[in-house]
Amino acid sequence: MDHEHVREVDPAVADALKGEVERQRSSLQMIASENHVSEAVIDAQGSALTNKYAEGYPGSRYYGGCEYADEVEELAIERATELFGADHVNVQPHSGTQANQAVYFAMLEPGDKILSLDLTHGGHLSHGHPANFVGQFYDVEQYEVDAETGYIDYDGLEAQAAEFEPDIIVSGYSAYPREIEWGRIQDVADDVDALHLADIAHITGLVAAGVHSSPVGIADFVTGSTHKTIRSGRGGIVMCEEAYADDIDSAVFPGGQGGPLMHNVAGKAVGFKEALQPEFEDYAEQTVANAKALGDQLAEHGFSLVSEGTDNHLVLVDLRESHPDTSGGDAEEALEDAGIVLNGNTVPGETRSAFDPSGIRAGTPALTTRGFDEDDCRTVADLIARVIDDPDDEDVLESVRAEVDELCAANPLYEDA
Ligand SMILES: Cc1ncc(COP(=O)(O)O)c(C=O)c1O
Repeated sequence: MDHEHVREVDPAVADALKGEVERQRSSLQMIASENHVSEAVIDAQGSALTNKYAEGYPGSRYYGGCEYADEVEELAIERATELFGADHVNVQPHSGTQANQAVYFAMLEPGDKILSLDLTHGGHLSHGHPANFVGQFYDVEQYEVDAETGYIDYDGLEAQAAEFEPDIIVSGYSAYPREIEWGRIQDVADDVDALHLADIAHITGLVAAGVHSSPVGIADFVTGSTHKTIRSGRGGIVMCEEAYADDIDSAVFPGGQGGPLMHNVAGKAVGFKEALQPEFEDYAEQTVANAKALGDQLAEHGFSLVSEGTDNHLVLVDLRESHPDTSGGDAEEALEDAGIVLNGNTVPGETRSAFDPSGIRAGTPALTTRGFDEDDCRTVADLIARVIDDPDDEDVLESVRAEVDELCAANPLYEDA
């Protein structure tokens, strides 16, 4: 990836782009919401479709010259439909947040009630945090995970829903390592006559591959991010049954967005095609096996895992017992110095703050893309333990960095680029 055209015009940006590729190549990307898309997806996203205005939907646009935009969007829709088995798919949301916004805008009035998981228990800003528009436009109450087990407190959710009588219940999370019982949440929604939005942002690829159960056909609406575990073009997606299709389409455009990012829609189409290949299922299975190996090995080192393990692509580590003097932020910083990039994260029952939380979240989607297996992930767990045991020891950081270099060299990234 020389970005030679950029270099001719703007060497400063070209240097930053080159630096970013080099950063991704030479360090371990363990932010659970990130991945390395293929060069084909990058190519599609860097295409001339960025120039095209295509407000509207295939066959019904507000501008001329949309024949190729239509073709690309139809392919993206067709492939997403095949991957998820949804009746209706909208591939235009610019992001996962805007996919959620479309559902709220289509189905709720300002002041309506949303019941969603607390951010510090693994929820997402766009599910109702006061700093997000959702928390300001709607009446939000939040449910929690069980303090003992770290699993969603489904009984608590049921009782809270009966009391609060929400208009919509949101499931699907940002930092929840366990399988989600969609049917159980749907039962709660049915009992109180609420809609159910299942946000599969993080696990979109796992659901597409059949490695995590699917809420499609259970929840009224399913939203997702398209650049996380599913490794396609950056953005969001909304799925629903045919009866809601027009409402959702109007809520995406013109409700919340202008012209679609057609280059990203092309990236989604290409990534979805890749996800339809049999190798993608192997990838998704390996991602989960790697997260389990990572978690088990961290537990061997005495770390406490929220819910004591994982069923998906991430582990959430609560540092309070094993390393009471090290915050998630301290750990994040020291690990980054050693070439391991992840994020400090709040944990259920958080006693610090969102800015200096008590845990770390680590994911395996990107490592798995570059070829890491369970043994590699156990080695990564050993390295994480060495850093967090001695976050201020420069010699430790340097020796871990050398081992990270070896792992990166053994699992090259964007080789031909
Ligand atoms: C559960 C959940 N929903 C929505 C989003 C938002 O996605 P985006 O960053 O594309 O807006 C995220 C992001 O990580 C997420 O974890």
